[in-house]
Amino acid sequence: MNKAKFITFEGVDGAGKSTHLAWFADTLRQRGLEVLITREPGGTPLGERLREILLNQPMHAETEVLLMFAARLEHIEQVIRPALQRGTWVVSDRFSDASFAYQGGGRGVPLAKLELLERWVHEDLQPDLTLLFDIPVEIARQRLSNNITLDRFEQEQADFFERVRAAYHRRVQQNPQRYAVIDAAQSLEKVKYQLEEVVLSI
Ligand code: TYD
Repeated sequence: MNKAKFITFEGVDGAGKSTHLAWFADTLRQRGLEVLITREPGGTPLGERLREILLNQPMHAETEVLLMFAARLEHIEQVIRPALQRGTWVVSDRFSDASFAYQGGGRGVPLAKLELLERWVHEDLQPDLTLLFDIPVEIARQRLSNNITLDRFEQEQADFFERVRAAYHRRVQQNPQRYAVIDAAQSLEKVKYQLEEVVLSI
């Protein structure tokens, strides 16, 4: 059997990635694979406590980066690596691409600092595949406006999300073979159709 894969879902808030993640994981399970669903920030007891702080407590942009990567280290060592080693596939709602997009693109934290932390925390571990849910910021904002409460990131303005989206695009350009870019502006059914194609290619 092929070795277990590490797959991540990314995109600006409101792109709809979380809606599709459970369906995607179920489709893999139907193929007889063991699949673990997890998320960042979070995925461990400590990571979930850090998530609560990160999503609600104002802080310096570089504190935000350090806490994201602290939560990530715990997640990798306690959850992701052990799962992959026992042959379980891991599907994570966000990973380091989100730090490059949100803290790097959105907040303007220098790339060199993010690259340093990435090397420190997971030099030898990268997703095998990343699904980027790509959507014009205006449409994502409209979808978010249905939410009753918005976290610290979701409350950011359109220009912040434009920078986040552009940073995701730069990541894809640098390493296109790792990404499947999903046109998330389409109907749920059409997005699902795109995901089916991705599943067939795995
Ligand atoms: P999100 O994944 O959108 O969860 P939900 O669908 O429950 O709102 O929320 C996580 C937020 O954290 C999102 O706004 C992006 C942000 N984030 C970063 O800024 N940097 C990171 O490295 C990660 C993992 C997430």
